[in-house]
Amino acid sequence: LSGMPLKLTVIGTGYLGATHAAAMAELGFEVLGLDIEPSKIEMLARGRVPMYEPGLEDLLARHVAGIDGSSGRLRFTTSWEEVAEFGDVHFVCVNTPQKHGEYACDMSFVDSAFSLLAPHLRRPALVVGKSTVPVGSAARLAERLRELAPAGADAELAWNPEFLREGFAVQDTLHPDRIVVGVTSERAESLLREVYSVPVAEGTPFVVTDFPTAELVKTAANAFLATKISFINAMAEVSEAAGGDVAKLAEAIGHDDRIGHKFLRAGIGFGGGCLPKDIRAFMARAGELGADQALTFLREVDSINMRRRTHMVEMAREAVGGSLLGRRIAVLGATFKPDSDDVRDSPALNVAGQIHLQGGQVTVYDPKGMENAKRVFPTLRYAATPLDAVRGADLVLHLTEWREFRELDTAALADVARHRRIIDGRNTLDPEVWRKAGWTYRAMGRPSA
Ligand code: UGA
Repeated sequence: LSGMPLKLTVIGTGYLGATHAAAMAELGFEVLGLDIEPSKIEMLARGRVPMYEPGLEDLLARHVAGIDGSSGRLRFTTSWEEVAEFGDVHFVCVNTPQKHGEYACDMSFVDSAFSLLAPHLRRPALVVGKSTVPVGSAARLAERLRELAPAGADAELAWNPEFLREGFAVQDTLHPDRIVVGVTSERAESLLREVYSVPVAEGTPFVVTDFPTAELVKTAANAFLATKISFINAMAEVSEAAGGDVAKLAEAIGHDDRIGHKFLRAGIGFGGGCLPKDIRAFMARAGELGADQALTFLREVDSINMRRRTHMVEMAREAVGGSLLGRRIAVLGATFKPDSDDVRDSPALNVAGQIHLQGGQVTVYDPKGMENAKRVFPTLRYAATPLDAVRGADLVLHLTEWREFRELDTAALADVARHRRIIDGRNTLDPEVWRKAGWTYRAMGRPSA
């Protein structure tokens, strides 16, 4: 475009955008981040992150302009005009949540980002979509960009899905295991090669493809991961019925390196802002394309997953003698996964909520997710420490696998619990450690000792 070092913008500063912006500054680019929420922008401009993500605040502080000792390469704004004037490459990182009461995903944030940016694009620009979208969106958005950009503008679209995991966002963004770009011109490809020259030089595979394939790679990857988890959870159901041990089974099949050990941990299943809504949106889109039969198995993946939550509630009810009414249940974990404060579609909170609705007195403890959990579920009780949560409990449920829970003082907890019963919903605690301290330990898909 200009022959000068590229200037980048990042539109939408949630998990994806905030991490991408900081990572691009780390790679040496000048970056301008935009969000429609002024409060978020104010925080980021002070080097503060509006969520818990390990390492992200440090990375931001190294680059945000105005912070002592920072590179000054990263700034934030709420002005679309400023963004359009500044950037050679614009990354669109806004979220695409599930539509209320429907399987399809809500494209309104993406659509509005394009509508607000395009009319200001007076200089040559590459707009790069990173949000997870239904296949076919990129083609539609390219058309929209042509319609909305000022006459004679030179604005082009590329699609570059993101595969970062919460809790590992910084690492996954700086050292991705692949970069996928959907392009329709050599210029777009070469600009993206320039943006990603550092990871590519370090050996990251760079896959160049068309729009629909780039969009599909993202949803296919998440569908595969969800399927892997539901597969092992289906094996947990069968193991329970047959008296087998799903953890041993997973270990044994994982030695076949075509299968592998990762994502084979049975438990209360997957949650979060991505996997559940992505498989649903994928089914909805396949239906629109007349290919719904190809994805009917994902309906099963979804229902196996949702069944895990009710199964955990049943196990809890059975453990306390057939009724949860008035029973005190300590819940360890509220977030959908450890190293995150995210409680979106959290299996842990869902189980806690179901038990509450059946009359159980639930007390929740989570290392980082308490604030968000209280907002979603203000009617539950919350304790400041695991010990306080377990005090007087008839049953303890381990529902999010924080490291802290593997290192608990099981003897001290035994002293304060009313009944020494624990159910491990994540299969990550050491049964022997708990049993030695006098606990009855039960796990999902494993025999009860
Ligand atoms: C997921 C994908 O892993 C990322 O590659 C993708 O980029 C991201 O969605 C996205 O689309 O943005 P994330 O939602 O951060 O990342 O979390 P995962 O690490 O995939 O975990 C998802 C859920 O599966 C968690 O609730 C976790 O507890 C559960 N899980 C994971 C299991 O129940 N068993 C396992 O063996 C692994």
